[in-house]
Parts: sequence; C-alpha cells; structure tokens
Amino acid sequence: MKKFVDSLFVKQLSEISSNMYRQGWDERNGGNISYLLNEEEIRPYFKEDKAIREINLTFEAPENIREKYFLVTGTGKYFKNIKDDPESNLGLVKICKCGCSAKLLWGFKDGGKFTSEFPAHLMSHSARLSVDPENRVIMHTHPTYTLCMTACVKTDEKEFTRKLWKSNTEAVVVFPEGIGVLPCMICGTEEIGRATAEKLKNFRVVTWTNHGIYGVGKNIDEAFGLIETVEKTAQVYMLTLGHVVNEIPDEVILGLAKLWNLKIMSGVIDKPKN
Ligand code: 13P
Ligand code: ZN
Repeated sequence: MKKFVDSLFVKQLSEISSNMYRQGWDERNGGNISYLLNEEEIRPYFKEDKAIREINLTFEAPENIREKYFLVTGTGKYFKNIKDDPESNLGLVKICKCGCSAKLLWGFKDGGKFTSEFPAHLMSHSARLSVDPENRVIMHTHPTYTLCMTACVKTDEKEFTRKLWKSNTEAVVVFPEGIGVLPCMICGTEEIGRATAEKLKNFRVVTWTNHGIYGVGKNIDEAFGLIETVEKTAQVYMLTLGHVVNEIPDEVILGLAKLWNLKIMSGVIDKPKN
C-alpha cells in the first residue's frame, strides 16, 4: 500500500502553506486550508476507512458533504511547519453519515484536531458545491494589505470591489463577480461560518474585516491565485492611497469586461455616458 504522506495532496498542501508563510500571510498558526478528496483518490493509500479516532463536530455538517473526505490543516498548527512534519500538522478526515463527527484516517499524529474554522470550511464547501460541483478547495489566510484595506474601506461590497478594480487592471479579469465583504465578527464560530458560506454562493473570495480572507477554487492554484490577486491589488491600493494621479478609467474596466466576455458585478462601474 502506498503511504498517504507521499501523496500529491499532502505535497500540494505542504508546498502551498510554505509559500503562503513566505508571503508573510500566515503568522504563527494563522490560516487554514481544506481540500475535498474523493474515494478513488484515497483508495490507493487506504484499503478501507479505518478510523484512528473519532473527532466530534461542534455543529451539524450539511448533508451534501457528509461521508466526504477532507485533507485539512490542524488547529494551532503553524503553516511554516507543515512541510517538515505533515503528519502532525495535517489530517485526513471523513465526515460521518449523520454529520455529527469526523473519522480521522490519517494525521494529527500528536493528538491534534482540525482547524477551529472547520465550521466555516465545511459550510463553505457545502455552499460552493451547490453552485459549482467542481469546487474542492477552501483557503483562509491573513494577507497584510488586504487586512489594511478592510480597516480603511467601508464594509460595502460594491465600494470595496470598485476600489480594487480601479487599482489594478487584472482585478476585474480575475474576479469579475466582485468580492464579498463581512464585517468584523468573532472567528471560529458557527455564525461566521454561516455568513461566509452564504457569501460564497455569490463570490469566490470573501474578506473578513480586520482578520483576513477566504478564497475558493477547484484546485489549490485557483484558490491561491484569487487571494494572491486580491492581496497584490490591495497592496497597490494601500501604497498609493492619497497619491493617485492615474486611476484606471471606468472605460478601461468596461473594455476589459468586453474583451474577456466577463459578466461583471453590477452597480460598481458607471454606465458609459453617450
Ligand atoms: P486555527 O489554528 O484553528 O486554524 O486558527 C487560525 C486562524 O486563522 C483562525 O482564524
Ligand atoms: Zn484566521
């Protein structure tokens, strides 16, 4: 039997978390990632679903993600350490049939458990699958300039989106549907999980004011690429704040939307004047 620690999935999560740490986004235990895997992908490593132990969920997992497998980062674990010791810092779990607990199949070797943001992750997986059956990754991190921007811009989705689109021509191309915005809330709770999942039905990226960001995708590259583009744009916004002479004209944003055939968030860019 092949060893799961040598699998591509563990390698991908280890690589991306090291990369995110190097960006300065994941201080201490900041950030968490979950990756939905299917049965065919895990069978080469596990003959059957033999639980090392059961871990209770503090909330009821939504129906469409029950009996699904998730590779997930551990609570209190540091992204910088995942690569050297994936088996302590990551875990592979299967959500039970009734949605009340998870079977640990691999990992969390030192007795640990999944991220404290697991409610937000599972609810977000559920919400994304309802609008995009190919979605597999939920990524949460604390990118510096995005955090700065959440402190400086009103918690208004259209205003936030407009400021990003007007700062970097790539922004509208990468997230034409705009960006979801949540106010400052208590993290690790079911409440913030529900609010995040609700936003993720309309957006692929959601900010948590004064805390960080959630990005999603069908693979790790997609989720990371979205967050990376928001963060780069937020950096441009923050570094130029109060000094802008050449803002991206509305016509250029509309021109990009036309060129790339994008359905952009309405009410963000003014209609062209005839
Ligand atoms: P965990 O260590 O529980 O994953 O929490 C980190 C975090 O970013 C909380 O929002
Ligand atoms: Zn966080």
